[in-house]
Amino acid sequence: MSNLIVERDLHVVRITVNRPDKLNALNGEVLRALGDAIAGLDQDPTVRAVVLTGAGDKAFVAGADIAAMAQMTPVEARAFADLGHRLGALIEGAHFPLIAAVNGFALGGGCELALCCDFIYASDRAKLGQPEVGLGILPGFGGTQRLARRIGPARARELCMTGDLLGAQDALRIGLVNVVVPHADLLAKSTEVAKRIATRAPLAVTAVKRAILRGADAPLATGNELEAASFASLFGSQDQREGMRAFVEKREATFEGR
Ligand code: COA
Repeated sequence: MSNLIVERDLHVVRITVNRPDKLNALNGEVLRALGDAIAGLDQDPTVRAVVLTGAGDKAFVAGADIAAMAQMTPVEARAFADLGHRLGALIEGAHFPLIAAVNGFALGGGCELALCCDFIYASDRAKLGQPEVGLGILPGFGGTQRLARRIGPARARELCMTGDLLGAQDALRIGLVNVVVPHADLLAKSTEVAKRIATRAPLAVTAVKRAILRGADAPLATGNELEAASFASLFGSQDQREGMRAFVEKREATFEGR
């Protein structure tokens, strides 16, 4: 059985990490498969949004694979961390937004994977956290960095130093997840939002993704400069003409990503 399920409905793709008997834990094979899937979809400009979730009823991803990590040497651990970082870079570099639909445990590498996505929707059964300190390690796929950027350094320290797990409502309260929905509604809600994004001008959505992501690490003036340059460049797109013409003509715009 494949470790990943990739399903497509027009402009929206759902990727499901599929190792439910191991709570979708990320081993090297899954990390490579996910990276290859994202890189492949990034070649296709007609992909406009991706929903990322985990198979089964219990877990989004319960972490990096502890059995695989248990005997690693430092050199192997570095290569494993690099695989995780490569995946993060592919997700963040992709032209389409990704919504993490966290349907259960998102722990360690699972929480880090969700943090690479543009935003997180959670089931009311979700539990998120960075429990690595209980295993004698620290987060290895960017957790200390992205968590601090998402929820602030003090809360990130608290989560990473205690290893405590947060329930969905607590994760919502601190801004780690955007929305909490009843478990049974999670995929429908995430897909509905992905489809709504897919109706918007794709080049503009990509520009938003890049401006917010890259701007977050830059001084305000640099981020604003990036935004202004993107703003100007979109005036060379057919979609800008279509979007504004449709407004004037009081009809729905149809965007083509050109
Ligand atoms: N790596 C490898 N295997 C994992 C895993 C992980 N991160 N998380 C769960 N699994 C496996 C279990 O070993 C078990 O496999 P088995 O049936 O072959 O023994 C299977 O998934 C089911 O997990 P189990 O622990 O029996 O489920 P549970 O409901 O009792 O507990 C958790 C769920 C999430 C609390 C528990 O699995 C857990 O603590 N996992 C590790 C979380 C973690 O530390 N992640 C960070 C890693 S960096």
